[in-house]
Amino acid sequence: MQWNFQEIHTQAQAEAQAIDSPQAMEVFRLKYLGKKGVVAAVFASLGGALPTDKAAIGKGANDLRSFVEQLISEKSSNVSVPKIFGEQVDTSLPGTGEPLGHTHILTQTMQEIIAVFEGMGFVTIETPEVETEFHNFTGLNIPIDHPSRDAFDTFYLDAEDPSSKGRRLLLRSHTSPGQVRIMKQHKPPMAVIVPGRVYRPDAVDASHSFMFHQVEGLLVDDKAQFSELKGLLTEFCRRFFGPKVIMRFRPHFFPFTEPSAEVDINAEILGIQRKKWLEILGCGMVNPKVFEQVGYPKGKYKGFAFGMGVERMAMLKYGINDIRLFYENDVRFLKQF
Ligand code: PHE
Repeated sequence: MQWNFQEIHTQAQAEAQAIDSPQAMEVFRLKYLGKKGVVAAVFASLGGALPTDKAAIGKGANDLRSFVEQLISEKSSNVSVPKIFGEQVDTSLPGTGEPLGHTHILTQTMQEIIAVFEGMGFVTIETPEVETEFHNFTGLNIPIDHPSRDAFDTFYLDAEDPSSKGRRLLLRSHTSPGQVRIMKQHKPPMAVIVPGRVYRPDAVDASHSFMFHQVEGLLVDDKAQFSELKGLLTEFCRRFFGPKVIMRFRPHFFPFTEPSAEVDINAEILGIQRKKWLEILGCGMVNPKVFEQVGYPKGKYKGFAFGMGVERMAMLKYGINDIRLFYENDVRFLKQF
């Protein structure tokens, strides 16, 4: 018999081992299984073979075909793996993994603030960012054309307020319109917080942005006192910043609260050198004129309100010195929190 099947198998196996690309694989396949391949040649030799050899040659051809097919199927899973700079990828190496995102530092801060107030019994309500002049101003005792409107510089929309002819809708310049909405809908007693975005046409710099976040607070019952407001905010600051925080209440003016105050945090104590005191919130006793605007009976209720800047709180807590960092979405910044 002219065929040494043993040798052909050994040869095929060695060639299969050396296959390193889909092209080499195809060359190999054609060499053995193609029309002019080795298996076909073995079958073709049957015609001139001795009758005593025919059975062995037929079996040898069939065995060789299955052997080569098996070599190909074993090899093909590896061969299709892409090559990088001529090297085979080592699929046994641990992967690098896809970076997983996480909650933005501002959302985290917002959630922390909300958690402290909810822990004290406050309920969270969200109100619209697109507001009417009534909710943003008039209902808060900021009359039309009164100069105190200037303190809350506002983006007006090119859209008429459907509830008030000739007046335009606007982007709320603070979360205080939430107070008006909630009081118009609910009767005291109530203790609510209103977190959300606010907008002011400020030039952007390290401490100003045309959009930022506030958390508004409002408590109304028939006996609320300024001392309770002070106690609440002091406890809040201790829980949020930690027990070593130093704060001060500074008299201020807001048309919707009387008396009013601003709260500053001692930034030095928290390790921020830029400025000694940083203002974080405005607050005060709800002005009876606001109760009047929302239709509460005269003299029946007492309440206090506050509105805090979320970016300011985060900057103080985490030592961030530029408000723009919050909005640039630079992963090198975001991944630190
Ligand atoms: N709305 C005020 C501001 O944006 C803050 C404030 C809220 C003050 C509630 C008093 C009461 O500055």
